[in-house]
Amino acid sequence: MHHTGLEVYANASALCEAAANRLMDLAEQAIIDQGEFHIALAGGSTPRMLYSLLALSPYKECIDWQHIHVYFGDERCVAPDHNDSNFKMANDTLLSHISIPEANIHRIPAELDDHDEAAQQYAEILTHNIPCIYGLPMFDLILLGIGPDGHIASLFPGTPALDESNRLATAVYVEKFDRWRISLTYPVINNANHIIIFASGEGKADVLQSVLGDSPSGGNSVLLPVQQIQPRADMTWFIDADAAKYIRKTA
Ligand code: 6PG
Repeated sequence: MHHTGLEVYANASALCEAAANRLMDLAEQAIIDQGEFHIALAGGSTPRMLYSLLALSPYKECIDWQHIHVYFGDERCVAPDHNDSNFKMANDTLLSHISIPEANIHRIPAELDDHDEAAQQYAEILTHNIPCIYGLPMFDLILLGIGPDGHIASLFPGTPALDESNRLATAVYVEKFDRWRISLTYPVINNANHIIIFASGEGKADVLQSVLGDSPSGGNSVLLPVQQIQPRADMTWFIDADAAKYIRKTA
């Protein structure tokens, strides 16, 4: 059953603490039920803060990292040691500080010159490692950030990636950055058991008003990428008071 939740926290650090606790609970339950937990990480500033927290006690010791498999929702087409790399960010803030087997880290091979090949190889990694439910890999948890333009993962407004309905991952040329990226597509995002979307800071207030405010945009206009998510199961917004400033408090 699909369920969407909205949780508003006083500030980004309260938000990250709540998200870290949620992640710990979801991982514990999944590992009890099925022996492993498959999570897709996001890039961006709020996820970075969350990863730094997860690298500290009690999360560092209490989370069963041995049974957690880490993937990425999207990646910039750069080498894994490049400062723009989402893998590098997650590695520097979290993965290099915890006791997780190397074999449990599944990064996107976004450094390949052939971007379609990179997306294809990543799709094979997903198919090979993640349980297939309803005909598609089912992540236990996908973390997403949201851009001020309403993008999630690297599904940017106006890009053909938004219409990809067959492939699990796709290459996306992002005009405003003049860069290629690799992103999960809607079919696999929608199939997740849980989706958490983070938004913190005033820079996200306008887009959240469009998406979660009293009169969400849409109607006759084109939906933002975040509004095109159709989760099969649970989706929860974790937002802070600054990002929520134009939204009537419902949580
Ligand atoms: C990325 C992302 C992207 C990000 C948002 C929000 O690689 O850029 O995965 O979707 O989460 O752009 O980023 P900020 O939190 O830094 O605004």
